[in-house]
Amino acid sequence: MPEPKKLFIKTYGCQMNVYDSERMAEALGGQGYEETDRADDADLILLNTCHIREKAAEKIYSELGRMKKLKLAKPNLKIGVTGCVAQAEGVEIMRRQPMVDLVVGPQSYHRLPELEAKVQAGEKALDTDFPDEDKFEILKSRPKTPHGPTAFLTVQEGCDKFCAFCVVPYTRGAEVSRPVARILDEARNLVERGVREITLLGQNVNAYHGAGSDGDCSLAQLIWGLDKVDGLERIRYTTSHPNDMSDDLIAAHGDCTKLMPYLHLPVQSGSNRILKRMNRNHTAESYLSVIERIRAARPDILISGDFITGFPEETDADFQATLDLIQEVHYGTAYSFKYSTRPGTPAAERAQVPPEVASDRLQALQALLTKQQQATQNAMIGREVGVLFERPGRDPGQMVGKSDHLHAVHVTHSNARIGAISRVRILSSGTNSLAGEWVG
Ligand code: SAH
Ligand code: SF4
Ligand code: F3S
Repeated sequence: MPEPKKLFIKTYGCQMNVYDSERMAEALGGQGYEETDRADDADLILLNTCHIREKAAEKIYSELGRMKKLKLAKPNLKIGVTGCVAQAEGVEIMRRQPMVDLVVGPQSYHRLPELEAKVQAGEKALDTDFPDEDKFEILKSRPKTPHGPTAFLTVQEGCDKFCAFCVVPYTRGAEVSRPVARILDEARNLVERGVREITLLGQNVNAYHGAGSDGDCSLAQLIWGLDKVDGLERIRYTTSHPNDMSDDLIAAHGDCTKLMPYLHLPVQSGSNRILKRMNRNHTAESYLSVIERIRAARPDILISGDFITGFPEETDADFQATLDLIQEVHYGTAYSFKYSTRPGTPAAERAQVPPEVASDRLQALQALLTKQQQATQNAMIGREVGVLFERPGRDPGQMVGKSDHLHAVHVTHSNARIGAISRVRILSSGTNSLAGEWVG
């Protein structure tokens, strides 16, 4: 047996990249690679990059600069760039940093083994094409032990929505859904290997419309299919667009007990004028009405969101409308970002808000969201929730898991086992987690 070669992958950006990194490690496993968590130990380094915000590409170039000395120390080391910066910059990466051997965009990962062979033969390899074939099915996942009782499963990729600030439609391409049968197979396979919770992934996951046994199947229908998989206890999905929250999906939140009471539903702004300029195709009112319908179906659902402050032309009044919307929704948790220009997107050409103004607004927005998060956590105290234990905690005998509402929960009890779902009474709330006692 030859010594396994060592692979180091550094992952940036969204869950889709985390998922892709795992698939790439599996594909390269077939080429004799074993993963390492040390860059200086590796024979192949992959930077799986994100291009969502300005400076993301610059950060990759400085990381590559730092890696140069690893390559000087170990001339056989190969360095690759994958992900959304690879897609967006392509050959420019090799021009600026000639020691890069491999550049592969997200649409071409199925070609990774053959591209790696090319690199080993001393050539450079570049592939950022958008292929016609279904890359999902070509990059077959080989049986591999999942990292615990939870797993991500990509069901949809790409985006056709073209929000005026966002690069995803350019880096990930058009919306594509995987066929239902393949997803169910993969889910059963994960469950056989100990997975209890699956999060369905997609940049626009609720626009899912994969081929089913009789015609296209919606995300809600897919969830009902997964509901029948024995041994699968919890289903989640992310990320959703408000306009694709269909009636059957909303109803599933009330009727499907395996579908967890958590929904990430980005709104970006509460001002209709800004939403229009963002090309979001929804209004504050239509968003609020979706939230109202979801809460009618599942009253205890925890709502999470994404926000951008300082989008071009945003005024104080527009920003106030965002704060008002937040007050009305009351978020359990949220992600917020200062607008950052992406060259090539429509908003990049418009009148920019001064960065200090965008920062001040971000601070005010986060202060409000933090208050809501704390209030949501405090409201859990005294309640009994289901917790799926994922790993040991820092203290002796302590276990950490996720509640139905996706709160991290710490419990110290000898009956708390990894992979088991237990009832836990919440006793206290910390900054980003809860602590509770094991009930049964
Ligand atoms: N498809 C998902 C997530 C897209 S990216 C959705 O539509 O919700 C994740 C988040 O990054 C977005 O929701 C948005 O809030 C933020 N984002 C995207 N482009 C950005 C930009 N140019 N500047 C700041 N934030 C941005
Ligand atoms: Fe980007 Fe908008 Fe598509 Fe989300 S819906 S990925 S923000 S273009
Ligand atoms: Fe970033 Fe690409 Fe995801 S730009 S957010 S890694 S789809």
